Amino acid sequence: MEKIAIVGFGFMGRLHYGNWKRIPGARVVAICDANLAQFRDVSDGNIAGVDASTDFTGIDLYDDMGKMLAAGGFDVVDVTLPTPLHPEATVAALKAGCHVLCEKPMALDVASCDRMLAAAKRARRTLLVGHCLRFWPEYAALKKLIDSGKYGKVVAAEFSRVTPPPDGKGTHGWFFDEKKSGGCLLDLHIHDADMVRFLFGPPKGTDAVVHRRAGGLLDHAQVRYAYPDKVVTATASWAVSKTHGFEASFRVVLEDATVVFDAKRAAPFMVYPQKGKPYAPKVSARSAYEAEQRYFLDVVRGRAVKPILSARDARDAVALVKSLV
Ligand SMILES: NC(=O)c1ccc[n+]([C@@H]2O[C@H](COP(=O)([O-])OP(=O)(O)OC[C@H]3O[C@@H](n4cnc5c(N)ncnc54)[C@H](O)[C@@H]3O)[C@@H](O)[C@H]2O)c1
Repeated sequence: MEKIAIVGFGFMGRLHYGNWKRIPGARVVAICDANLAQFRDVSDGNIAGVDASTDFTGIDLYDDMGKMLAAGGFDVVDVTLPTPLHPEATVAALKAGCHVLCEKPMALDVASCDRMLAAAKRARRTLLVGHCLRFWPEYAALKKLIDSGKYGKVVAAEFSRVTPPPDGKGTHGWFFDEKKSGGCLLDLHIHDADMVRFLFGPPKGTDAVVHRRAGGLLDHAQVRYAYPDKVVTATASWAVSKTHGFEASFRVVLEDATVVFDAKRAAPFMVYPQKGKPYAPKVSARSAYEAEQRYFLDVVRGRAVKPILSARDARDAVALVKSLV
């Protein structure tokens, strides 16, 4: 049985909380949020499935992480704080002897990521960062398909991740401050940047054209990752209209098939072979976030799992995004 403490009970904290409740052998025993109103209110976000319950029977509630760590009684700290707080909270939890699952992006800069990696090594504890896309059924299936070689080499890949700007309501004001969120590249595009590394390895070079809204926040970008044998591009936006909504998609052109994912299409995930009929591959229905949290616990427990994600990958994703602008 792993006892879990969550720090930051906003949008992602609630999402993780709901998942921990479904995972055998995991029990949330403590939650910390500096804003006690978070234990009453449901925060905003763009993902379904957030736990809205406010029955915290058997869970110790805190408004200060230092007090929570001093009280102890848990093996895992799940860091779902705003990004600038990730390094400090992660290092403190590791020093307290806990394993840490930290939300993405790992940190705002590479030096902070390196501090987190060093703290995990010193403490001999597991540190992973929530790159949920590696567990997203369609992206995981794409990786398998590419690695199988069934449809030949990749010719081109384009990724898109766009959402209306965070509405600034509730706790979400910090997203508008690029010094705190990193803008749409570090906060949003990092998912696709990490996926590009996961699928194709580190690129030989990068470039990006970006738009900044009045006030300076980076809210739209077109990115190119240079590889000698394929064209890899991505779009990231916090500028699309509210009526457009969130959209994540990819189109990967292989020599012998084109693979498309777009959650808004009637058939979201399709393979279009050069020969034969298009088909919709079957994928797992499990939430990527839950799969990621299960994977983290498997690593903590020392189970022999196929390596999918490491803290070093998360650090390298931050480095890649920081190379763009
Ligand atoms: N993996 C994903 O798909 C995904 C999606 C959204 C957000 N995120 C990431 O998750 C993190 C959190 O984002 P969010 O949308 O949940 O933010 P949020 O603002 O909804 O939640 C953050 C919570 O932390 C609390 N908090 C702030 N300072 C604190 C402190 N010092 N001690 C304790 N609590 C404190 C706030 O009161 C708030 O409840 C960010 O790094 C974000 O980039 C990841």
